[in-house]
Amino acid sequence: MISNRLKSLVKYINKTDKIIDIGCDHALLDIYLIKNKYINNIIVSDISSNALKQGIKNIKKYNLDNYIETRLGNGLNVLNNNDYIDTIIISGMGTYTILDILNNKYLENINKLIIQSNKDYDILREEVCNLGFNIDKEEVILDKDKIYINIVFIKGKSKLSKEEIIYGTKDMINKEIYYKYLLDKYNKIYLLSKDIKLKEKIDYIEKMLSN
Ligand SMILES: C[S@@+](CC[C@H](N)C(=O)[O-])C[C@H]1O[C@@H](n2cnc3c(N)ncnc32)[C@H](O)[C@@H]1O
Repeated sequence: MISNRLKSLVKYINKTDKIIDIGCDHALLDIYLIKNKYINNIIVSDISSNALKQGIKNIKKYNLDNYIETRLGNGLNVLNNNDYIDTIIISGMGTYTILDILNNKYLENINKLIIQSNKDYDILREEVCNLGFNIDKEEVILDKDKIYINIVFIKGKSKLSKEEIIYGTKDMINKEIYYKYLLDKYNKIYLLSKDIKLKEKIDYIEKMLSN
């Protein structure tokens, strides 16, 4: 069984996508994708040999070695010019680790990024847009009291406004959950800092929540 957090990523995947799942760990998402025939094959990788061992064990358990190729290594460095990959999945990681992974020349070949970060979403939106991507879909996920945002980036010029970089795109699903999370975070900092700029942000979010 996979978590709702992982399952929430499935709808962004098309059968024709040529995918690498970076930081696959247990490889549960990848096993689910293949078993349920969402895709025919996938490359999965992890920087940790122990994590990848667990993934390989699970893949073997389901007899899926012919469909899931495992690679040990750091981010996109596990790919070479003979690989034809156009889609990257990175889930369950922080924004700075995700950005480190994306900062790689192989990104030129990539058309779609399916990213699930657990913090610093504004930095993620801004930096990935600076890498030549635009946001196609966004959804806030609450899993075991922890917030994640799924963001699907597609190659192209970003059309995001400054507000969308900070607060998410207009069409973001479950945006109220994210606004309440931001409000709580900003209020805590404001209590100590009395920063006037933060107060403006708090007022802005309260207005959005009341609309
Ligand atoms: C918290 S787990 C998330 C696993 C899975 N993607 C999920 O969403 O449940 C993060 C995994 O990413 C791996 N990881 C961290 N940095 C990495 C990198 N630069 N390249 C490849 N894997 C990495 C870790 O070893 C770990 O197994």
